[in-house]
Amino acid sequence: MRISQTGDSKFGFKNANEERLTVQYLQEANPIVSPHPGTDVVKGLTQTPKTLSARYFYDDRGSELFEKICELPEYYLTRTETAILQQCASEIAQVTGACELVELGSGSSTKTRILLNAYNQLGYSIRYLPIDVSAGMLESSAKQLLVDYPSLEVHALAGTYESALAQLEPTQLPSRMIFFIGSSLGNLNPQECEAFLSKITDALQVGEYFLLGVDLQKPKHILEAAYNDSQKVTAAFNLNMLEHLNWRFDGNFDTTQFSHLAFYNEIEQRIEMHLSSLRSQTVELRALNLNVNFAPAETIFTEISRKFDLHAIQQELKALHLVPQKVWTDENKWFGLLLCQLQA
Ligand code: AVJ
Repeated sequence: MRISQTGDSKFGFKNANEERLTVQYLQEANPIVSPHPGTDVVKGLTQTPKTLSARYFYDDRGSELFEKICELPEYYLTRTETAILQQCASEIAQVTGACELVELGSGSSTKTRILLNAYNQLGYSIRYLPIDVSAGMLESSAKQLLVDYPSLEVHALAGTYESALAQLEPTQLPSRMIFFIGSSLGNLNPQECEAFLSKITDALQVGEYFLLGVDLQKPKHILEAAYNDSQKVTAAFNLNMLEHLNWRFDGNFDTTQFSHLAFYNEIEQRIEMHLSSLRSQTVELRALNLNVNFAPAETIFTEISRKFDLHAIQQELKALHLVPQKVWTDENKWFGLLLCQLQA
C-alpha cells in the first residue's frame, strides 16, 4: 500500500480538487513522520502469549477483505445492523436534528448512506467526518459520497480513533453525533472500552449524541461460523495482518507458515482470533530491528470480538453519562443499536 504523505500545507491538509472534501492525515497514521512507529508491535511480539493490535488488520487490502466478510452468508453482523438502521434511521435524524456526523472506522461508508438519506429526507443540514486508519479506503469512499450527495460536505480524517477524537474542532452545527457502528467496540477489552468511551464523552458537549452498534450474545455455533466462513475470507483477513507488518516494518513473515484460528470463549463472551505457527520458525522485522522465534503451534493473538449483553451495556453507558435514549434490535435479538445522549 502507498504511505499517505502529508499534503502541501503545513497543517497536513490536502485540498482534493473538490471543494467539498478535505482530507486530514493525522500524524501517527504516517509511519514516516510518527516518532516511534511499531513500539506496540515490538511489545506484542516479545511477550507471551504474543499479541498484535486488531488495528493492523486495516491496511488497504485488509479493508477490502473486511468488505468481503460483510457480504458472507455466515457473517450476519453487517446484514442485521443494516436492517435495523433501515428501520430507525429517520427516527435517529428526528431526535438529533441538524448535526455533524462523526464516524469512527468509516470503512466504505456503506451503512452511513442510510443515515445520510434520512437526514436529507428530513431536510436537516449535516457535515460528515469519517475517520479511518486506511487512508486509501477513506479517500475513495469520500469521493464517491461527493458524487452521490451533491450538497454534502466531507472532512475525512486518516488516523486512529484516539488521535482523531482528540483533534476534533467544535462543531458549527447545532449538534454532533459520534457514531461507532459495526460492533468494533467489541475489539476492546473492558478496560480499553472504558478508556475509549471516556474519550467519546470528552469529544461531546452535554446534549450531544453517541450512536453505538454492538453484536449480542447468541449460540456458539452461529458465532463460530461467522468467523470461520467456508470461503476462508476471514482466514485471509487474519493472515493479511502479517503481510501488512511485512510492508510496514520490512518483515519476512511467510503467510503459508501460519494458520487461522477462531473460536468462541464462553467465559469471556468473546470470539478470539489467533494465528498459529505451523512449524518452528524465526521471523525478522528489519525496520524494528526485531527477530521473533515461534515454536510449532505457538500463536499470535490478533483479535477479540466481544459479544454484549444489551442490558449490561446500557448500564455501563449510563454510568459514563452516555444515557441510552432509544435502543433497537432485530427480531432475533442478534444485534443492538443504541442512541445515547451525553448528560451532565
Ligand atoms: C469490524 C471488529 C466488528 O469483530 O466481527 C470480522 C472484524 N474480524 N471478522 C468483528 C472481524 C473477523 C469485526 N469488527
